[in-house]
Amino acid sequence: MSQQALRVMVTGGSGFIGSAVCRHLAGQNNVAILNYDKLTYAAAPASLAMLEGRSDYRFVRGDVADADAVSATIRDFRPDTIMHLAAESHVDRSITGPGDFIQTNIVGTYVMLQAALEHWRGLAGEAKNRFRFHHISTDEVFGSLGPDGLFSETTPYDPRSPYSASKASSDHLVRAWGHTYGLPVVVSNCSNNYGPYHFPEKLIPLVTLNALEGKPLPVYGQGDNVRDWLHVEDHARALHLIATRGVPGESYNVGGRNERTNLQVVETICDILDELRPAPGLRRRDLITFVADRPGHDARYAIDATKLETELGWKAEETFDTGLRKTVQWYLDNEAWWSPLRARYAGQRLGLKSA
Ligand code: NAD
Ligand code: DAU
Repeated sequence: MSQQALRVMVTGGSGFIGSAVCRHLAGQNNVAILNYDKLTYAAAPASLAMLEGRSDYRFVRGDVADADAVSATIRDFRPDTIMHLAAESHVDRSITGPGDFIQTNIVGTYVMLQAALEHWRGLAGEAKNRFRFHHISTDEVFGSLGPDGLFSETTPYDPRSPYSASKASSDHLVRAWGHTYGLPVVVSNCSNNYGPYHFPEKLIPLVTLNALEGKPLPVYGQGDNVRDWLHVEDHARALHLIATRGVPGESYNVGGRNERTNLQVVETICDILDELRPAPGLRRRDLITFVADRPGHDARYAIDATKLETELGWKAEETFDTGLRKTVQWYLDNEAWWSPLRARYAGQRLGLKSA
C-alpha cells in the first residue's frame, strides 16, 4: 500500500450495502478500508470473508453512538473519507421498536459528525480539501408517491415511518454540519436495493428462502405497493463516485428505474425458482399469502437519478430481470452464508402494531 492510498472509513460495513461497498473498494487501486461496525443482528461478517487478512482492510467493532470509540478510531485511522452507512434499516422493526432507530440513526449520526468535524479541523492543505463525510440515506425520507411522478433531490421531506423519520433527522443533521461548520458533506438517497448478501428479513431474500423451503410467502395488503429496485453493486459503484467526486453540500438520488409492484416481484421469484429448482407437485405461486398490511405502508417510491447520471456519469448496469435471476441463483448457491442467519431469524412476521 503506497503512502498516497485513499483512506476510507466505512461505518456499517458488515451489513448488506456496506459489505458491497467494502468489496467494491477492495477491487480499486490504492484504497485503504476501515470497516467500523457494531455487529448487530443485521451484520454478516461472512460477507467480507474474502477481505480477511488483506493489508488494505481493517475491521473495528464499535458503536457509532460511542463518542470515545469513534474518535479514537478516527484519530488512529486518519480517514480521507467517511462513508456513513451504519443504521437500523428495517421499517417493520422500527414500528415495534423505534428506540434503536433513534439511538443509532440520529444520535449515532450526531456522534459521527462531531468526531468527523474534530478530525477535519485538524487537517491542513490538500488533506483538508479532499476530506468528505458521505452520508448514505434513503428515498423513504421523501414520503410516498401517488401513481405518477418521481423523487428528485429537491422533493420536500415527508417521512412517515419511525425508520424514515430517523433517517430524515440524520440527513438534516448532516446538512446542518455542512452549512454551519463548513464540514464537507455529501448526501445520497437511494431506492430499494437487492442482490447477494441481503439479510433475509427484507422482501426479496425472505420470499426467496421461504419459497425454497415451501413456506407461505407473505404479501402485505394487496401487493400493489411499488418499489424501485436497484442492484446493490450498482449502488456501491454510485456511492464510490459520490464519495470521491460529489460536490460538498450537494445530494444525489440513486435509483435503477425498475418500478415493480410487490406482487410482481414475488411472482417473478416464484417463476424463477420453479425453473431453477423445480419442486415436484409444487407451484411456488400457490404459496403466496396475502397478510395484514404494514401500518402506514408507503404506496410508491420511484427515483429520478438524472443528476447522478449527468453530473457524475453513473449508469445502472444491471436490469431488474437479469439481476433478480442472478440473485435467486446466488441464494441457491450460498446456503452456507444464509443458513446461520435463518437460524437467528426464521422469517416470522414483524412490524404489526399491538391494538
Ligand atoms: P443493514 O441493516 O444490512 O446493515 C446495517 C449495518 O450497520 C450492520 O452491519 C449493523 O451491524 C451496523 N450497525 C447497526 N447499528 C450500528 C451501530 N450503532 N454502530 C455501528 N454499526 C451499526 O443495512 P443496509 O440495508 O446495508 O443499509 C445500509 C445503509 O443504507 C443504511 O443507512 C440504510 O438506511 C441505507 N439504505 C438502505 C437501502 C436498502 O434498500 N437496504 C436503501 C437506501 C438506503
Ligand atoms: O426505499 C429504500 C428502503 O428500502 C431502505 O431505506 C430500507 O432500509 C430498506 O429496508 C427498504 O425498505 P422497504 O420497507 O421498502 O423494504 P422491505 O424489503 O421491508 O419491503 C419491500 C416491500 O415489500 C414493502 O412494500 C413491504 C413489502 N413486504 C415486505 C416484507 C418483508 C411484503 O409484502 N412482505 C414481506 O414479508
